[in-house]
Amino acid sequence: MTHSVLIKNGTIVTAADSYQADVYIKGEAVHTIGKNLNALPPFNQANKIIDATGCYLFPGGIDPHTHMELPFMGTYSSDSFESGTLAGLYGGTTTIIDFAIQAQGKSLNAGLDEWHRKADGQAVGDYAFHLAVTDFNEQTQAEVQEVIQKRGVSSFKIFMAYKGALMVDDLQIARLMAETARFGGMVIAHTENGDMVANNVAQLLTEGHTGVKYHGLSRPPICEAEAAGRFMDLAHHGEHECYIVHLTCEESLNRVRKATQRNQRVFVETCIQYLMFNDSQYELPGFEGAKWIFSPPLRKAKDQEALWHGMNQNLIHTVATDHCPFCLDQKRMGEQDFSKIPNGAPGIENRFELMYSEGVEKGRISLNKFVDVTSTAAAKIFGMFPRKGTIAVGSDADIVIFDPTVEHTYSVENQHMNCDYSAYEGWRVKGKCRTVLLRGTVAIDEGKTLINKGFGKYIHRAPVMEPLLSESQKTGDTPCQIG
Ligand code: URP
Ligand code: ZN
Ligand code: ZN
Repeated sequence: MTHSVLIKNGTIVTAADSYQADVYIKGEAVHTIGKNLNALPPFNQANKIIDATGCYLFPGGIDPHTHMELPFMGTYSSDSFESGTLAGLYGGTTTIIDFAIQAQGKSLNAGLDEWHRKADGQAVGDYAFHLAVTDFNEQTQAEVQEVIQKRGVSSFKIFMAYKGALMVDDLQIARLMAETARFGGMVIAHTENGDMVANNVAQLLTEGHTGVKYHGLSRPPICEAEAAGRFMDLAHHGEHECYIVHLTCEESLNRVRKATQRNQRVFVETCIQYLMFNDSQYELPGFEGAKWIFSPPLRKAKDQEALWHGMNQNLIHTVATDHCPFCLDQKRMGEQDFSKIPNGAPGIENRFELMYSEGVEKGRISLNKFVDVTSTAAAKIFGMFPRKGTIAVGSDADIVIFDPTVEHTYSVENQHMNCDYSAYEGWRVKGKCRTVLLRGTVAIDEGKTLINKGFGKYIHRAPVMEPLLSESQKTGDTPCQIG
């Protein structure tokens, strides 16, 4: 018999509505939503009945930017798909989109194969992939159609930073945009000018500036804004939509504002750390500031303000984590040279509750905006809606039962992320993910894990946009010529 769950007396919140209703789940999906279902068979005969009185029912969080087991800067990020997705579930995130990376000189498919090896049978929560393209040439161009149509990956990341490692040039970006658009794919970008950054780093080191704070000074807002502007110009020139990952500052946001004035469609992500912290973290004594070394770096208080406003102005669509933890011993690789500190920090367990506590509770965003930026917008932009990103009949029953009255304190002592520090140590948070359901199964309940590794499913994503070509043209026999 198909398993069923009734969640009664909760307040459902989606990106559009808030209302009191009961949710009846059959198998993996939401079957019925209605008032007082608890009084009616078959709903009141469900295998499991959960009383959500006083709680919100939010769609499971979607984190569109994570790096599990990422080989980076001479080491690996410290969360596996098992530990990272479990931590995500504790923090209300039921689906991640992780970055599979094409190794330079290797195929796109090989990069995806490698990420499937890391995740399949290991993940506790659901996962999808973006594909980071580090080497776009005739061979890899020929793989794009298969990657989108057969492998369920419709977003392609490029790095405009990390010169000599992951960085690609403008011609590769323009060509990748043209090819992916043919099949409904989209290019997404880490926008920092890698040449400017490399030059700044070399100069600072030559002058003997090796400490943590020089990381921020080597990557000023202009490096990010210039690359963001260039990326949007390339997209505009080819008439493509595009997505900017981890936008951090007012200067970049104003470039986005400008792009919208020429009627360009640009999707923008910021990350929780840029909303919560400013660059005063880099002034902390000793090596403490290394905990917040990531790229782009933390900015000023005025930039934090601009990001909150940007969300309400619909210029920023998603809030991700860029979850890429490194333990302190790994960070110490850069004790004598800031440019060797592995870039990245933990956050997947904190994003959802922090957005509620610092966003909704403090009156910066509405409840519906909270749902949009933590879940719905990512599902829509990246081809998973309405299966993910909402609570609706037929959608996956990924539901967070959230108690807004519970206060708690973040600490490395009580987190599930595989990292020996918390970026939010001692932070007091209002509101807690009490119970988390993933595809109709209670995954987390009151601090207990009720599912195992391997429960997480790969989410095969649809094209993110209408393909540019008609069906008959999509044979792949006529590769796109640019320039
Ligand atoms: O510092 C960061 N952000 N590390 C992860 C890689 C990236 O740039 O997204
Ligand atoms: Zn990045
Ligand atoms: Zn990243």
